[in-house]
Amino acid sequence: MNNYNAFCVCWCVLFGIVMSASEFTDEEYYHLPDLYHLDDYTKCLSQKQGLYCLGTFELSPAEEQSPVFDLIKVYSENPHHFNRTIIQRGWCVSSRSLRTEAEPVRRFTKCGQDWARSRGMNARLLKLEYCRTHDEAKTPNASDLPERVFLCAIICILIFNVIGTAYDLWKGNEENKNKILMAWSMPSNWSRLTSSLSNEDPRLSCLAPFQGARVIVMTLVLWGHVFFSHALVYLQNPRDYEKSLHGVIGALVYNGTSIVQMFVIFSNFLCAYNLLLPSNKKPLTLSMFPKQIVKRYSRITPMNLLLVGYGATWWVHSRDGALWPVLVGNEKIFCEQKFWSHALYINNFYMPENVCFIQTWFLAVDMQLHILALILTLCLAKHRRHALRILGSLFVLSCAGLSLMVYLNNYSTLLQIAEPDNARTMLRNKPSFYEMYVNPFNSLPACLMGLFLAHLLYELQENGYKFHECKWLKYSHALMIPLYILWLFCGIYFRELKSNIDTALFIGLDRLLFCSIFAVKLMGFTTIQSRARKFFSWRGWDVFARMSLSVMMIHWVVNVTIVAARPTRTFTSFIDVSIDAAATIVFTYIMAAPATILVEMPMQRFLDNFTR
Ligand SMILES: *[C@@H]1O[C@H](CO)[C@@H](O)[C@H](O)[C@H]1NC(C)=O
Repeated sequence: MNNYNAFCVCWCVLFGIVMSASEFTDEEYYHLPDLYHLDDYTKCLSQKQGLYCLGTFELSPAEEQSPVFDLIKVYSENPHHFNRTIIQRGWCVSSRSLRTEAEPVRRFTKCGQDWARSRGMNARLLKLEYCRTHDEAKTPNASDLPERVFLCAIICILIFNVIGTAYDLWKGNEENKNKILMAWSMPSNWSRLTSSLSNEDPRLSCLAPFQGARVIVMTLVLWGHVFFSHALVYLQNPRDYEKSLHGVIGALVYNGTSIVQMFVIFSNFLCAYNLLLPSNKKPLTLSMFPKQIVKRYSRITPMNLLLVGYGATWWVHSRDGALWPVLVGNEKIFCEQKFWSHALYINNFYMPENVCFIQTWFLAVDMQLHILALILTLCLAKHRRHALRILGSLFVLSCAGLSLMVYLNNYSTLLQIAEPDNARTMLRNKPSFYEMYVNPFNSLPACLMGLFLAHLLYELQENGYKFHECKWLKYSHALMIPLYILWLFCGIYFRELKSNIDTALFIGLDRLLFCSIFAVKLMGFTTIQSRARKFFSWRGWDVFARMSLSVMMIHWVVNVTIVAARPTRTFTSFIDVSIDAAATIVFTYIMAAPATILVEMPMQRFLDNFTR
């Protein structure tokens, strides 16, 4: 099949999906009982007798013939629809049932039964999230030990910053300032964040377009996460979410999760490239391994633990609302339980189905692969002549291995399991997510490709290869982003793959293709002048790119804080997701700047003093 045909197939499939989504008429659709309902939480709990409960009911027909239930059943049989036999309710029980003597859960159950009976159905309480009374809501929580520890940590960090800044101001322009104290100086860290030092070494300045790419991709990731978060809250128009999930947006977002691999390529590329550059003067040996690991650990861990710590302690007290105890309360428990595994970067293996911040799997995988990348780079230093061949073969092998792993375990791609009912539990029920997607093997091809590219670029630069004379690279690298977008669109076709072997082949192929597309792009970007390169190397990106770690850690808190405390059901659409995403991005960067200056940078510089 040539390219043109493939393109047509994609569009025809797309068109077919849009057409088949409208099989239920509006009239029929609105006979279905609401999937979600929220009573006014604040109003309810303001009353002395107030009792608010939130939970999930399962509906069943009361008599043999129940037209409403038949409709529900037909609607729910479509996997691209929410299962409407399961309804979610946040009810002010005290104003719905006047019997005050029974216990809260009983009263809530009774409310559900009464509600269902009037519609010719039965309701069974499937899962109770919580019941809250006026008294419980009004008594302030006493802070527990972890909360006090967290507060102390914050205060200590602030005090250090004050001391460092005072020292810096006091010393003025003197030379030979104390390095340990200067690490905590706010003005010094601020200028580090905002400085636009150009690199003298052309081999380093050629990496400038990475910064723009990082920021733009991070923005896309944030948009995607806001889209995910809309599936977690109570929606006013779940049907529109179903449509967008099954339409082009869903395919692009879920197929586009592969873009995270770009960060893996970058990270391992930089790791190897930065080791290789000075290797002429200072040969690489395995004895450098511990220092490199400690360096990386001390760079990432303070920010990581700060946010996981916040999630485990104060986050839940920062706002309130009907959905808040469910969304944030549960995440708090996971963060508490998994805190130590985050510190050791094994949170993707320890209780992987209980996620504390969806983005943290990446830090764990990145650290695990970093260890491998370091060992490989240091070992290959002695066999430089074979390095490219070895890394290239390992890359192909890892793609094949990934396919095999998917085949043997019957996994699916995220694209295939992106159904409404999975989205509303954040894929917690799917091993394809919590075993396979967050597994380092899933990102291994990208890691090896990063190493391969670092060796290739270094080798070519050493030999004085003239990149601008390479016509092939010049023209092909410009086509790579359109090609990737086309590949994302083809997700519309690939998510219909049913058989296990097709899925396995698709995953292997996806990695192979993504990494190759990216390899060409990266080689072209680093070595050939173009207008796009200029845009991505703009100095302004530097500032935002330096905040990447903070942004990555903070954005989920901001996102959930925005959507989970809404007093009413959320209206979702492309525009509404974009508005929430815009708010998330703006507030994330506003908070990332102080986090970077007050925590990340000083901690890194402070700890660097001990790893010299
Ligand atoms: C919907 O959920 C109910 C209750 O869990 C289950 O019995 C039923 O099989 C589900 N329907 C579909 C189509 O998945």
